[in-house]
Amino acid sequence: MTQNIYDNPEFFQVYSQMRRSVQGLEGAAEWPALRALLPELQGKRILDLGCGFGWFARWAREQGSGPVQAIDISEKMLGRAKEMTADAQIVYERADLEEVELPAAAFDLVFSSLALHYIENLQRLLALVHAALIPGGWFVFSVEHPVYTAPRRQGWVEYEGQQSWVLNSYLAEGMRCTDWLAKGVIKQHRTLATMFNLLLRCGFAVTHVEEWGPGEEQIAATPEMGRERERPMLLLVAARRASIPSALQP
Ligand SMILES: C[S@@+](CC[C@H](N)C(=O)[O-])C[C@H]1O[C@@H](n2cnc3c(N)ncnc32)[C@H](O)[C@@H]1O
Repeated sequence: MTQNIYDNPEFFQVYSQMRRSVQGLEGAAEWPALRALLPELQGKRILDLGCGFGWFARWAREQGSGPVQAIDISEKMLGRAKEMTADAQIVYERADLEEVELPAAAFDLVFSSLALHYIENLQRLLALVHAALIPGGWFVFSVEHPVYTAPRRQGWVEYEGQQSWVLNSYLAEGMRCTDWLAKGVIKQHRTLATMFNLLLRCGFAVTHVEEWGPGEEQIAATPEMGRERERPMLLLVAARRASIPSALQP
């Protein structure tokens, strides 16, 4: 069953104080890299999966996009998103991405920022996203990187005089129970190979992959981000709807 941790009052309170929650896209260190993967948005019909406070939806509209459908499971996240939105072309919908249904060939771009590592049945969702895109349509997303999600207990250790990330259980895919902002936050770990094989099997042509870490300028401005270069925390992907390779068709 879906946890919906963002509706937990304590979790929501802490999440609401994060830089990315207060400042929006500009407060998300990976945003410049993710933005660079997006196509020209003019007139594009967009679907945002796990939209949170709706920062991307509002930004997309400022860039001249067409209508944006923005989906999230959390009432609290959607409530805040609606408060900040005065644009009838952005439609927020409460739905669980594990069970959602999507219209066929209805979107030019499907976007998702940091939501897919909560999804257990990713194959179902990716197949739906493929069908919801027009042929050639774009799918751009970020997730927590598998090196970050893998460990049974996430954390840094001092090793040979430097901060090091403990990587274990990498090939043991499945649920992880983490203490991130609150105790017992459930996420899903899958390997890089699983992620990309799912995309390929569902009929996506992957056009760009980035194992994101902060750049020199970002570290100069915020030195504590330096250790984020010890391992990638985020995976950014751009793909396009292609046809399902005949060898993989059911
Ligand atoms: C880290 S936040 C990211 C929010 C926004 N995309 C951003 O980047 O600012 C993850 C979001 O995914 C949503 N989410 C997690 N699991 C979900 C599910 N099964 N169905 C729909 N939304 C989900 C959460 O409620 C939360 O708003």
